[in-house]
Amino acid sequence: MDIVLSGIRSTGKLHLGNYFGALRNFIRMQDENRCYFFIADLHSLTTHPDPKSLHENVKNVLIDYLAAGLDPEKSVIYVQSDVKEVIELYLYLNMHAYLGELAKTVSFKEKARKQPKNVNAGLFTYPTLMAADILVHRADKVPVGKDQEQHLEMTRRFARRFNNLYGLEYFKEPVAYNFGEELVKIPGLDGSGKMGKSEGNAIYLSDTPKEIEKKVKRALTDSGPTEFNSEKPDYIENLFTLLRVVSAPEVVEHYENQWNRCEIRYGDLKKQLAEDIIKVTSPIRERVIELSGNEPYLRKVAKEGAEKARESAAATLADVREIMGFKSF
Ligand code: TYM
Repeated sequence: MDIVLSGIRSTGKLHLGNYFGALRNFIRMQDENRCYFFIADLHSLTTHPDPKSLHENVKNVLIDYLAAGLDPEKSVIYVQSDVKEVIELYLYLNMHAYLGELAKTVSFKEKARKQPKNVNAGLFTYPTLMAADILVHRADKVPVGKDQEQHLEMTRRFARRFNNLYGLEYFKEPVAYNFGEELVKIPGLDGSGKMGKSEGNAIYLSDTPKEIEKKVKRALTDSGPTEFNSEKPDYIENLFTLLRVVSAPEVVEHYENQWNRCEIRYGDLKKQLAEDIIKVTSPIRERVIELSGNEPYLRKVAKEGAEKARESAAATLADVREIMGFKSF
């Protein structure tokens, strides 16, 4: 049985990118594997260090997890900061992580550009904290979206380095996982690259049908192709990418044919796209509303998750301390 682990930062509501890049796969993996899914609240401090919203954000992600179908009977669901062993392993891994490799990380360079006044050491060592998350349970598979590929590569490198340094095969080398397919990248609706919380281009799982319709309607289009079978500009390709994840294959084929014959009606395509997104999000939104008032249940899930996660993490840390040479008097 494989050990599966993944997490999502608690910096706001979850969007379709989080869902199709990660959360949907968490749910699909629960039955056949030993799964750990957590809420990355420590990682959120690199960009959102606000005590007023920290707990609320964690709670919202927990609710989204449960509403989307994560089952605490099948998976260990926990809050990252509840498992102190992660912080300890993060420190040890940092002792063997080098300035040069951390500085080259794409996500670090992007964030440093976006928040030039707060290029903190947490941002810089984001990959070692992520490696600690993964290695602390010695995970095999990590379901994530395309943007996390480099972090997984670094995790493997840190694992290998630890093993080489201490002369044993302790950590496994985990892989980014998407059922044998390419990792996904869900685009935004504004013609730019990926959908993201901070990009202002996201459709959230908790958006109302009206909000979804409005957002899809506003997506960038043009006056349509003038040549048969022409290549689509990025902003149109993005609409098709979304259609491919939420709609039936024959629906996608219908609009592909229309595009190829220069008969495409964007109004119809957007209406269909909004409808199919609503089909995915509506049941989740309904359960979000149900769960929101159920504090005792949320508390129970978080508490039991933390206990199980700590048990597994503590076993790893006991080994790691011994391997590294720590001894108590
Ligand atoms: P975060 O919160 O940025 O993203 C969470 C997950 O959602 C995926 N994702 C996307 N996938 C496809 N298209 C998009 N537009 C899109 N936007 C987000 C991300 O790929 C990710 O899988 N560093 C992680 C959190 C984390 C983690 C870990 C993950 C911390 N420790 C250990 C796995 C293992 C992150 O970026 O979260």
